[in-house]
Amino acid sequence: MRWWDIDPVLVLEKDLFPEDAWSRGMFWSELAHSRGPQATRRYVVAEENGRIVGYAGLVASGGQGDIQTIAVARDHWGTGLGARLLTELLRAATAFECSEVMLECRVDNVRAQRLYERFGFEPIGFRRGYYQPGNVDALVMRLSDPATPRNPVNGVQGTETHG
Ligand SMILES: CC(C)(COP(=O)(O)OP(=O)(O)OC[C@H]1O[C@@H](n2cnc3c(N)ncnc32)[C@H](O)[C@@H]1OP(=O)(O)O)[C@@H](O)C(=O)NCCC(=O)NCCS
Repeated sequence: MRWWDIDPVLVLEKDLFPEDAWSRGMFWSELAHSRGPQATRRYVVAEENGRIVGYAGLVASGGQGDIQTIAVARDHWGTGLGARLLTELLRAATAFECSEVMLECRVDNVRAQRLYERFGFEPIGFRRGYYQPGNVDALVMRLSDPATPRNPVNGVQGTETHG
């Protein structure tokens, strides 16, 4: 993801996370840490015919990866794009030499949880009231050893992912 992707990403962000959408400043701040030798983040976008249809990001620190976000445009749900973006993030976690990857997910987001479970993430606890202002709990999930591929993904024709 580059700075010029932020505007189209924000359109998707507001649609997909209406209660707690990230601001433009949050994306800028994340991208500021995603380039160069000291980079601690990897943000990717998926494009189809010049339109951004998905994006995802990971932060790495002290051998641990954290999935910051993963999102797919509604008209692309169920095409395997979520799995592809997650594969990209786990590849990045491996490049950052992470031995585990963590994430938080709304307890009511069953669709996302199924995606993570397919990749071997396991629930390890809850964070009460993690999502504000709705006061929704987060399920914390963990994947050990992201370098071990668990979920071969079919190609999604016509969709390109890049950083
Ligand atoms: C969660 C989210 C990223 C999933 O994206 P997606 O593109 O629908 O995910 P996938 O297509 O990879 O997987 C969804 C289903 O499609 C199926 N699928 C269809 N075609 C597929 C293909 N070619 N390859 C792999 N899976 C395919 C998968 O098996 C899966 O089915 P299952 O959930 O019953 O096991 C997406 O729904 C989203 O953006 N939601 C809103 C934002 C959000 O909640 N983000 C997560 C925050 S924690």
